[in-house]
Amino acid sequence: MSTEPWWRRAVVYQVYPRSFADSDGDGIGDIRGILQRLDHIAALGVDAVWLSPVYVSPQVDNGYDISDYQAIDPTFGTLADLDELIEAMHARGLRLVMDLVVNHTSDQHPWFQESRDPASPRRDWYIWRPGRPDPDDPGATLPPNNWSSVFLGSAWELDPVSGEYYLHSFTPQQPDLNWAEPAVRQAVYAMMRWWLDRGVDGFRMDVINLISKPEGLPDAEQGNQLEMVVNDPGLHRYLAEMRREVFDAYPDRTFLTVGEMLAVTPEQAVLATDPARRELDMVFQFEHMDVDHGALGKYDPQPLDLRALKASLARWQEMLAGQGWNSLYLNNHDQPRVVSRWGDDGRYWRESATLLGGVLHLHQGTPFVYQGEEIGMTNYPFARPEDYRDVEAARAYEIATMMGLPEELILGSMARMSRDNARTPMQWDGDAEAGFTTGRSWLPVHQNHLWLNVAAQQDDPHSVLSFYKRLIALRKTEDVITTGSFRLLEPDHARLWAFVRESGDQRLLVVANVSGDPLRLPAGDPFAALDGGRLLIGNYPDGAGDAPGGAEGGAGAEPGVLRPWELRAVYV
Ligand code: GLC
Repeated sequence: MSTEPWWRRAVVYQVYPRSFADSDGDGIGDIRGILQRLDHIAALGVDAVWLSPVYVSPQVDNGYDISDYQAIDPTFGTLADLDELIEAMHARGLRLVMDLVVNHTSDQHPWFQESRDPASPRRDWYIWRPGRPDPDDPGATLPPNNWSSVFLGSAWELDPVSGEYYLHSFTPQQPDLNWAEPAVRQAVYAMMRWWLDRGVDGFRMDVINLISKPEGLPDAEQGNQLEMVVNDPGLHRYLAEMRREVFDAYPDRTFLTVGEMLAVTPEQAVLATDPARRELDMVFQFEHMDVDHGALGKYDPQPLDLRALKASLARWQEMLAGQGWNSLYLNNHDQPRVVSRWGDDGRYWRESATLLGGVLHLHQGTPFVYQGEEIGMTNYPFARPEDYRDVEAARAYEIATMMGLPEELILGSMARMSRDNARTPMQWDGDAEAGFTTGRSWLPVHQNHLWLNVAAQQDDPHSVLSFYKRLIALRKTEDVITTGSFRLLEPDHARLWAFVRESGDQRLLVVANVSGDPLRLPAGDPFAALDGGRLLIGNYPDGAGDAPGGAEGGAGAEPGVLRPWELRAVYV
C-alpha cells in the first residue's frame, strides 16, 4: 500500500463564498449557491475545495474577522447547509478544506469582549500593553512599540476601557490572539477537532506564521512588525503541538494542512513542511507574488521582470525538493487577476491565461486554482475610490493621500493591485449579473461577462476552461509532473520561460513565450528536440507548429519558433 498522501497528486480549487454563487438573491454568495454549482467544480477534475471563511463575522475583512468559530454567518447560510455541502462534496469525491483564522479574532468575539476587562481571566488571551510616555505631550501615550500593521498604520490600538493598547496585525477590528497563553491554544485545538469531527478534510491556515511573537515585543528596525514576527522560532513549537493535539487524534484520516506564511523564506518553509518534523503539509509563500512590488510595496507595482519570477519559483523548487512540499498559485482572493497582471488581457487573453496556468501547474507541488481563474477572469476597471469594498484598499488610499501622492497615481496603482479585482462575482453566463445572483451583486460584475463566462466556454474545446480541465487531468496520468526533478533553463532570458522535468526515463520539456512577439528558441539541447517530441499539452489549437491557425488567424508557427504567448510541454 502506498503511503503517499493524497494531496501530493491533488489540485485544489478555492471558493471565495461571497463572490461565487448567490442562491437567495441578496447579492452575496452563499453555501447553497456553492451546492448549486458543485457540478462545475467536480467537472474540473479537482480533488479538494478550499473554502474561504463562512463563520459568523462582522465582515470588516470579509469574514477574516471571526466572532464565532463554530457557527455559520447567516449571510452564508446555516450549519445544516455546511453539513450538506460536506456530504455533497464527499459524494463527488471532493474534500473540503476550511479556512482557519486564528492569528486574530474579530473584536466582537466574546473572548475579546471579556479580555477588555483587565480583571478578566481572559485578559491574557490577547496582547495588551501599557503605552509609552509621549515626550511631547505629558498627558498622552505612544503605542508600546513601533510595529506597523500589515494593512498600514500602527499595529496598536488604545482601548479606552482599560487605558492599554492591544496588538492587531491587521485592522483594529482584528485583535491578535496571544498564543503564548496555553488556554488559547487549547481552545483553538478543540475548535479544530470539532470541525474535523463534522467531516472536514483539513485547514488552510490564515497568516499562520504570525502567531508566535518575539519575547518582549522589541521595536522593529524598519518599523515593520513582520520582520520581527515571521521567523520567530516559537512558531514551529506551536505547529508541532497542533499536529499532535489535533490531527494525530485521527490516525485513519489524511488531512491537508496549508499554512499561509507572509515573508517566509524557503529555509523556514522546509522546517514547516518537512514530513519528518510533523508540522504542516505545505505553505503559501509570497516571494513570487512580490516580484513586481516597488520600493513602496504592493501599491507601487512595477512591470514584471520575468527573470525574477522564474528564478524565484525555481529557487523554491530546488530548496524544497525531497524535503518539504510546495503549493503552487498565481491567484487567490488577495491578489489581482494574474492574466491582467502578468499576461495580456486584451489581444492575447486566451493564450496568456492558459500559458500562465500551464507553466505553474507543470512545476512540482500542489496547484491551487482560484474561482474564475479557470475561465481567465480579468481585473475589473476600477476608477473611483468609492468603487472599492476592501478595507485594505481603503487604508492604502487614506495613507497614500496623507503622504501627498498624486490622486491619479494612487488610483492607478489601486486599480492594478487591489484585492477587489479577485472578488468581483464569478461569471457564470452572459445574463445581467452574470448568473451570479438574481438580485444586485455586492461588487459590480465585469462587463466582459457578456463573452467571458463559464457557459460560453463549456463546450469550446479551445477555451481556457477546457485547457484547465486537460491540465488538471494530466496530474493524474503523468508521474513526472508530481515526482520529477526540476531544472530551469535560460534563466537570463527575459521572455522565455523554460524548464525540464525529469523522472526515470521520462523527460518533459516545458517552453513558454511570455510576450506578444514570436520567439525563436535557442539552438542545441534540449530545445532542438522540441519539434520532434511528443506534445503533452499546448495552448494553441493546433498544438505544435504544423498547422495553420494561431491567435492571429495567420500561418502556424515555424519549427523552433514559439508564437505569441505560446506554451508547449513536450516529451523529448
Ligand atoms: C490573510 C487573508 C486575507 C486577510 C488577512 C487577515 O492574508 O488571506 O484575506 O485579510 O489574512 O486575516
